[in-house]
Parts: sequence; structure tokens; C-alpha cells
Amino acid sequence: GPVVALVPAAGRGVRLGESTPKAFVPVGGTPMVRLAVEGLIASGAVDRIIVMVPTELVDSAVALLPPTGSVQVVVGGAERIDSVRAGITAAPDAAYFLVHDAARALTPPELIARVTAELRAGRPAVVPGLPVTDTIKSVDAAGAVTGTPERAGLRAIQTPQGFAADLLRSAYATEGIQATDDAGLVERLGVGVHTIPGDPLAFKITTPLDLRLADAVLDGAGI
Ligand code: C5P
Repeated sequence: GPVVALVPAAGRGVRLGESTPKAFVPVGGTPMVRLAVEGLIASGAVDRIIVMVPTELVDSAVALLPPTGSVQVVVGGAERIDSVRAGITAAPDAAYFLVHDAARALTPPELIARVTAELRAGRPAVVPGLPVTDTIKSVDAAGAVTGTPERAGLRAIQTPQGFAADLLRSAYATEGIQATDDAGLVERLGVGVHTIPGDPLAFKITTPLDLRLADAVLDGAGI
């Protein structure tokens, strides 16, 4: 069955400090959402792409995305989770879903192909992750440290996150749920999520510093 990529691009991008919604901010002259979609196409692993955008940007998204029949634009929601749910609803035929942030605009197509290959090999949930370089601490509301998980056992999780389609549908079936990533919802169902090595270039462009880094990478500065 078809591999359908869902691209949440409906965020406001407040942390980036730009007036344009984040996915529409150019990196190296090209809007992030277009770069992300081009990466999915270049992977050769995806049959169809559904991009979720703010309601007032549907027309501009259609205009700036590659004009192929395999890319569709739908209206996203107030939270990322609502945007992903809108994408799931728009793809009743999907056998596999990849959920891939528009903000991870420089993700190598090879990483997308690796996630898809694991899904096709029978893994129900696959996420890319990188070892963390900082020590991570949990803190309470007052800023007091409550714990220091062992760093070697931590991964910074990226996208695309891949799922058997019915599993992702079940994870999203409950209204009012909250999670910062899709795999978190699947974990709550008690289904094992498998990590594979991520890629530094799949970093999420979130802050002004990230934007400068992404521009420099596309400028040929290399990393
Ligand atoms: O805010 P954050 O960086 O976690 O957003 C990750 C991705 O989710 C971005 O590509 C953003 O456009 C998308 N998003 C969305 N709908 C929202 C909020 C975020 O599609 N309501």
C-alpha cells in the first residue's frame, strides 16, 4: 500500500522571530516547506505527500510547492497534533505514514529512505535519533533539579517518524491527547517504537541561530 508523508507546516513559528509562519520562511532562498517536500520526493520512498498549512496560506502553499499530482495541501490545526490529525484524515488509503516536520528542511533524502525501509521490513514504528551532547536534567517549576538521566541512554528524536498507518490512526483516535511527537502517542498504546541513527542535517529549524546555520549549510559552507 501507499507510503503517505504528512508534513505539518501550520505552525506560527513564534520562536523563530519572523513575521511569516515558520514553514514559509526561506532558507537559502527557498521556503522551508518546499525544501522539506523536495527532500521527500528525492527519497524515492514516498508515494504521496500531504502538507498541512494555516488556512490563509493554502493558496500560497499550492503555488510554491512542486506542481506534481502527488502533493496535496490541506488546512492544519491550532496545535501540531491537530495538524497531523487533519493529514491522517485526508489519507484513508495509506498503508504507511511518515510524519515529517517542514521545519526539518535539510533532512537528507537518504534518512527518509532508511525510515521507510524499516517500516516495509515490518517495524510498526520507527524514529530517527541522535545521541545528545548536552547533559539533560529534569527540573521543577521553581527551577530546582529533580533528576539527571544517564546521557548515554538518551536520544534527541527527529523526523521523519514512520508508522504502520493503522497504528498511527489508533494513536490519534482519542481526542484531547497531548504529545510533542507522534511516537509518544504510539508508546502510550504500549507498542514498541524502534530508533535508527538520525542525521545532524535533520535538525529542526526553530531559533534565529538555527536559521543562520541552515542558510550557511545551503550556501555551501559545509559542516
Ligand atoms: O513548533 P514546532 O517547531 O515543534 O513545530 C514543528 C512542526 O509542526 C513545524 O513544521 C510546524 O509548522 C508544525 N506545526 C503545525 N501546526 C501547528 C503547530 C506546528 O503543523 N499548529
